[in-house]
Amino acid sequence: MSRTRTALLSALALVAGTAGAAVAAIPQDVGALAVPCTVDYKVQNQWDSGFTAAVTVTNNSAAKSSWSVKWSYAGNQKVTSGWNARISQSGTAVTAANESYNGTLATGGSVSFGFNGSYSGTNALPTAFTLDGVACNVDDGGGGPTDPPEEPGDRVDNPYAGAKVYVNPEWSAKAAAEPGGSRIADQPTGVWLDRIAAIEGVGSGMGLRDHLDEALEQKGSGELAVQLVVYNLPGRDCAALASNGELGATEIDKYKTQYIDPIAAILKDSKYAGLRIVTTVEIDSLPNLVTNVTPRATATANCDTMKANGNYIKGVGYALNKLGDAPNVYNYVDAGHHGWLGWDDNFAPSAALFKQAATAEGATVADVHGFIVNTANYSALKENHFTINDTVNGASVRTSKWIDWNRYTDEQSYALAMRNQLVSIGFGSGIGMLIDTSRNGWGGTARPTGPGATTSVDTYVDGGRYDRRIHLGNWCNQSGAGLGERPQAAPVAGIDAYVWIKPPGESDGSSTAIPNDEGKGFDRMCDPTYTGNPRNNNNMSGALANAPLSGHWFSAQFQELMKNAYPAL
Ligand code: BGC
Repeated sequence: MSRTRTALLSALALVAGTAGAAVAAIPQDVGALAVPCTVDYKVQNQWDSGFTAAVTVTNNSAAKSSWSVKWSYAGNQKVTSGWNARISQSGTAVTAANESYNGTLATGGSVSFGFNGSYSGTNALPTAFTLDGVACNVDDGGGGPTDPPEEPGDRVDNPYAGAKVYVNPEWSAKAAAEPGGSRIADQPTGVWLDRIAAIEGVGSGMGLRDHLDEALEQKGSGELAVQLVVYNLPGRDCAALASNGELGATEIDKYKTQYIDPIAAILKDSKYAGLRIVTTVEIDSLPNLVTNVTPRATATANCDTMKANGNYIKGVGYALNKLGDAPNVYNYVDAGHHGWLGWDDNFAPSAALFKQAATAEGATVADVHGFIVNTANYSALKENHFTINDTVNGASVRTSKWIDWNRYTDEQSYALAMRNQLVSIGFGSGIGMLIDTSRNGWGGTARPTGPGATTSVDTYVDGGRYDRRIHLGNWCNQSGAGLGERPQAAPVAGIDAYVWIKPPGESDGSSTAIPNDEGKGFDRMCDPTYTGNPRNNNNMSGALANAPLSGHWFSAQFQELMKNAYPAL
């Protein structure tokens, strides 16, 4: 899988200034429901010359197959780039029309889109909107029919609280067979359903029922959470090659009927009703539709294809809907990591896309229990030697090469901010975050013990950072990485657990091309001699040599992860 960074910032995001989270609401003037439509326009983020806004439109009249929303600005606001709608502006009048993939708007249904804009003076909120020429009510954000439904009563708030977590016997055996491996072989790790055959079991390997039966054994009379990774979208991992997977870009029906439906059927078996089943849903998919598409320099043809055909959104929506039917399933959607989505022009647009997927194909936000960050990535949990607000000789650390205008320095601050963002656009206020800490420890002898020299922002950040990668966009078998925090429930408010979803010791991708029947290509980000691409700003890959195919056991990496563990073993 790829943990693509994205990238280069739009000119807009480069504008320095206050990062205020100005959330504005408009007074509601008429009673709800009688009106044909409701519009909720929120400024989510605003700085001295720009802003990010999110708009949700609810249709209370006949179902539509296309739509167009209009408003006017009182000031000099200009929409500069939008997402999930085609937005145009003439003078002060703005028109937002559906994209090819979100034209359908049922009676009672809603659709969300967003945009970045510029302004000067006052960013006054528009006060009147139309949907297809008909005046809408303006939502004040409180109460009303668009609020997310409550979660079913039998789900607990945090499935990890008071529960053991399933130890995958297959991973455990490989870990225990390594010198020193018994120190961690009893840790819980993710069970990856990375192809259709994994449901029954690949070769003589365990299938999904085998794992769930074993989970019942491990559970005994207490509570137990089992962690599944749902990872088989059509056109999978569109910005990289190491984990492209078995389904072609158009094979959404196969995904539904031969992959999700059989998994959902097993999870709904009453035999497993006592297990807390955590699913992490489709890593490395949705954010690619924001960061690795035309016109960005980081675009790939495959990501353009997946954006145009909508199959990531449909697949994720379908998975959430079907898996969410089982009351003991806890869906966590992948939300990238700070080194991918921590830039202003990626952050809110990605959250908006998660919402779109979570309300596609019959899914609702109630099907989403939370989100997971840093899956299979290496971003440090907490950088203690600098904060995003630090300056050196008057220059913000955001201007350093390493941070490069990102808003976050580490995964924990990113996870909590993303959680707030997601709640602000309509996900339940009870959602919890998971952080994959399997390989983000960065201990060992290279770990800095204090801040870097204050000669420049670069010496300060580079001298102090735990994350020793050559570039934040590097994602494959990173040299110098160590095991991170051991899995644990509820480490801080808002975080449901630190988890080991990527099983330590399993490769991210081969360092040279290896023929195979697993749909795994060769991505040069896994080749230590590779000099990079726009997604890692043309830096060396930092990958370990002699790596096997993604998912295969990589003993040398496992040993290095133990050696550099932080906390140490
Ligand atoms: C691979 C999967 C594997 C997973 C866990 C992914 O990169 O594509 O096949 O199961 O990593 O190691």
